[in-house]
Amino acid sequence: METLNLIYYSPTGTTQKIVKKIAEELKLKLLKEYSLTSKLIDFNPEFSNNCLTIIGLPVYGGRLPLETAKKLKKLQAKNAKVVIVVVYGNRAYEDSLLELKDIVTNCGFKIIAAAAFIGEHSYSTKDKAIAAGRPDEFDLIKCTDFAHRIQTKINDLKDEEEVLDLDIPGNFPYKERATLTELNAPVTDETKCNNCGICVDVCPTNAIEMNQFIITNKELCTRCCACVKNCPTGARVFENPSINSLRERLYSICSDRKEPEFFV
Ligand SMILES: Cc1cc2nc3c(=O)[nH]c(=O)nc-3n(C[C@H](O)[C@H](O)[C@H](O)COP(=O)(O)O)c2cc1C
Repeated sequence: METLNLIYYSPTGTTQKIVKKIAEELKLKLLKEYSLTSKLIDFNPEFSNNCLTIIGLPVYGGRLPLETAKKLKKLQAKNAKVVIVVVYGNRAYEDSLLELKDIVTNCGFKIIAAAAFIGEHSYSTKDKAIAAGRPDEFDLIKCTDFAHRIQTKINDLKDEEEVLDLDIPGNFPYKERATLTELNAPVTDETKCNNCGICVDVCPTNAIEMNQFIITNKELCTRCCACVKNCPTGARVFENPSINSLRERLYSICSDRKEPEFFV
């Protein structure tokens, strides 16, 4: 194994941090990095026998983000090796890792290893902190451990046939996707907004437009919180009471620290 492809979707940056740390520790030559968060991406990866791919996605409602899952389903991996990672906000990853396993297997990847890591919850705030600051230094040490286990497994493989099926937790049929309609999109508090346009740039789905005011298209918005977490003045907020009660619920049920899990 000589080179590495890195593919991730990471609106609030935690998945990116984790997969990049794993990649760094693997010490393979980075061939290409595909951030599916970017609107400008030309996503046409090529796979070969001597190239390992890492795919990392956040967990949304116990599943994978829908549009990203659709993009991945089109890949043709021709038996290339892959490491799959999901990152969740300390509640649960439910069927997401199994869903990712099934997608990459159908694309023709051979799975070397899988993991579920924890990242600060997209809906975490200063007052209601949920997995705040994660991945932290301990998580990053786990990234190093995981990379070492991947290296050992690759070095021990004698031929392709030895890549055995991994037992990944989750159920099929997968959990129903949550409908977004009841949860309104973030809005801009005009008294705090300085029209810097960062929210427009970081929105992965082009849901935000800046004219005289900032307008958010609720149909396109996936509630990923990229705009909320990246706004330098705290002007992007959820006014919706259902998000506040969801955050309240998560805050009370997700306070016990969960640890990364590896499947190798
Ligand atoms: C729409 C949405 C749904 C989410 N659903 C879950 C979930 O089911 N379980 C969980 O533990 N975290 C959930 N999260 C939290 C994210 O998985 C978590 O914050 C992750 O670290 C975000 O990744 P990113 O920083 O790469 O965007 C959800 C976040 C969003 C925006």
